Order: sequence, then C-alpha cells, then structure tokens
Amino acid sequence: MKLLHIDSGITGGASVSRQVSAAVVDALKSANPTLEVTYRDLEAEPVPHLTGAGLGGLAESDPLAEFLAADVVVIGAPMYNFGIPSQLKAWFDRVLVAGKTFRYTENGPEGLAGGKRVIIASARGNIYANGAPNAGLDFHEPYLRTLFRFVGIPEIEVIRAEGVAFSPEHRANALKDAVAQAAALDGSLKVAA
Ligand SMILES: Cc1cc2nc3c(=O)[nH]c(=O)nc-3n(C[C@H](O)[C@H](O)[C@H](O)COP(=O)(O)O)c2cc1C
Repeated sequence: MKLLHIDSGITGGASVSRQVSAAVVDALKSANPTLEVTYRDLEAEPVPHLTGAGLGGLAESDPLAEFLAADVVVIGAPMYNFGIPSQLKAWFDRVLVAGKTFRYTENGPEGLAGGKRVIIASARGNIYANGAPNAGLDFHEPYLRTLFRFVGIPEIEVIRAEGVAFSPEHRANALKDAVAQAAALDGSLKVAA
C-alpha cells in the first residue's frame, strides 16, 4: 500500500501543518509498517504552474502519477489568504486532469479517482470551523472538499489546528490537540464503504 505525503507550508520547521501532517503519517506508518511513503515538499520542489503547453497532454506529470498510485493521501495545508497556498494549487492543477481523475458525461462530471483515503492537516490563524462567526470566510476547507469530491472522493478527513495566530498559547494548544488527533487516527488504509 502506498501513502503520498505532501506539505505546502512555507514556514519550515515552525510550520504547524507540517508538524501535524508528519504526525498523521507517523500514526499510519506505525499501524502499517510496510506502508510505502512518498514525500513531496512543494515549497522545496515546487510543481511548475500549469501552462498552455502543459495542457496539451505531454508526458504524465509526477503529481498525477503519484496521486493515482496512492492508496492514502496526507496533505499539510495551511490557510493563506483565505485559501490554499499557491504551491498546493499548482499541484492540484496537475492532478485534476480530464480523462484521468475526472471526466464529463452527458449527466455531468464524474470522478475517476475514488477509493483513496485523504487526510488534511489544516492550520489556520483564525477560527472558521464548527459554526464560528468567520465560517463564511473559509475558502480553504470547502475548496479542498470540493476538489476531492470532483475526482470521486466524497469524504475527506480534516484535522484542524485553528486560531494559531491568536497567541503563542493558542498556537501551542491547537498544535498539541491536532497532533493528539493525528496519533488517535484509525490506522486503516481503506476508505469506509
Ligand atoms: C502568507 C500567509 C497568509 C495567511 N493568511 C491567513 C488567512 O487568510 N486566514 C487565516 O486564518 N490565517 C492566515 N494565515 C495564518 C496561517 O494560516 C497560520 O499561521 C498557519 O499556522 C500557517 O500554517 P503553517 O504553520 O503550516 O505555515 C496566513 C499566514 C501566512 C504566512
């Protein structure tokens, strides 16, 4: 079984999303010692922006091939300017490919990449979840859910560290809670039917 681990935060060792995504991968790896992990750091090695030439169906890009091969996908995804980092957007632009991960039919779009377990390690300065007053400003988590739904993955799991910009204590507590949630994850590599 294969796990694809992606990080997109730009704050290096201080990154909350990176620490949480690492904790998710550790938990799955200890439950499944033979799990094969591929790691992509989108800040260290950015995926080039999509270009007109890239749309022409040249060689299959690494992001697409790695995504298709993965049974489990773990993504460290900070909120930047209310959405996902542009590094992560560039990755999705290589993964949402007509005829590979989705197609259009007479009845509308159809996802082709179902059956993967997807876990997002989310980090946000403010608080948006669980009916927070700022929920309407969240173009991060609903967007991630939309992208995966579009390729045939109706449910994703999201571990959130929120309010990390409020104070050092908020940040430490949010990180601690998120890492604990990661450690307590069900180690199954299959998505629930
Ligand atoms: C460039 C940048 C933009 C940000 N934009 C937002 C934002 O729109 N909303 C928010 O709640 N937090 C925002 N933040 C705070 C981050 O979401 C928060 O610091 C989070 O921990 C970043 O993830 P990381 O620690 O993995 O880098 C921003 C941070 C940076 C560096």
